[in-house]
Amino acid sequence: MHKIGIIPGDGIGPEIMEATLGILDELGFEAHYEFLEAGIPALEKGLPAMPPITIERVRDIGLALKGPTTTPIGKGHVSANVTLRKALDLFANVRPSKTLPGLKGPFADKKIDIIIVRENTEDLYAGIEFQPHPDIAQAIKVITRPGCRRLCKYAFEMVRRQGRKRLTAVHKANIMKLTDGMFLDEFYLAARDYPDVIADEIIVDNCCMQLVTKPEQFDTMVTENLYGDIVSDLCAGLVGGLGLAPGANIGESCAVFEAVHGSAPDIAGKGIANPTALLFSALMMLRHIGRNELADTLQAAVLRVCELGLHLPGDLGGHASTKEYKEEVIRAAKELSIRPVAS
Ligand code: NAI
Ligand code: MG
Repeated sequence: MHKIGIIPGDGIGPEIMEATLGILDELGFEAHYEFLEAGIPALEKGLPAMPPITIERVRDIGLALKGPTTTPIGKGHVSANVTLRKALDLFANVRPSKTLPGLKGPFADKKIDIIIVRENTEDLYAGIEFQPHPDIAQAIKVITRPGCRRLCKYAFEMVRRQGRKRLTAVHKANIMKLTDGMFLDEFYLAARDYPDVIADEIIVDNCCMQLVTKPEQFDTMVTENLYGDIVSDLCAGLVGGLGLAPGANIGESCAVFEAVHGSAPDIAGKGIANPTALLFSALMMLRHIGRNELADTLQAAVLRVCELGLHLPGDLGGHASTKEYKEEVIRAAKELSIRPVAS
């Protein structure tokens, strides 16, 4: 039986985790869950937002599903996510964005199917900031050759494994000649080992413009930490918003799956959060451990519920509670399990 670390987190985290695990349970997924603390419940006990014991357990287990965690604003609070990603060296952040049928929005008629592979440990997020003068603040952008190499290799491998066609490097090497230049060099070096994948590049600002005018032209993208953070939120917006955007943080021997969105304090405790982003993250986890059939069924079930449009959560334009939506997904998945998914 698979062992999985479960970090419910805080805010809407416990609500969407309960819905997600409830759906997996109803579909007969069996795993040994180990519940681990992070975020506000840990802070309330005087522990860091990402307690060392939680990090150690995830390291041992090698697999975790994580709900969002609040980073209190103010000095002294380190983000639980950044701590976990750094401690476990989860260097690749994989974020898919795909059009769902039936959902309304300015891009509903486009067939968007983009995966962004974002570097997760370097860049301006290395946290090296200082103030040499009261009127001057500086931050250091750190890009390493081994960091670029392993990220690009991972992205090319993923493209090949998933039968995708093209990998686009997103950068600003025209201005950042050394840092982004190194990233681009390593991208094309890696590309030599993958002649079956079309490797090309785009400058990040043009990429944003193209994404909001002709998003269907893109396939898979690989990029540095800061550009990836921004461009992947943009992509989430193209296909229906944060409530639908899943993510995976991948390291050499560990993987943590979590939604892109945060703890949504404005709707926490109201029972109206959309659990789809965490559910889709759980589906990425199922594929990671080879449970593709179950992932396919659940994916088809969510598509069905969206297509029917009768029981959608508030952020997707409906009125369903988290629980009602969960029950609808379970109902659709059970129907599809009786009549196997044609994919
Ligand atoms: P947020 O993603 O929590 O919320 C932004 C907006 O989207 C809010 O209006 C919220 O209600 C809505 N939203 C987000 N997820 C939703 C869902 N599943 N269903 C329905 N509506 C949803 O971003 P915000 O407000 O900037 O951050 C809140 C806290 O979360 C902060 O402390 C931040 O540091 C933390 N955060 C944690 C992340 C993580 O643990 N992975 C990622 C991003 C932020
Ligand atoms: Mg972000």
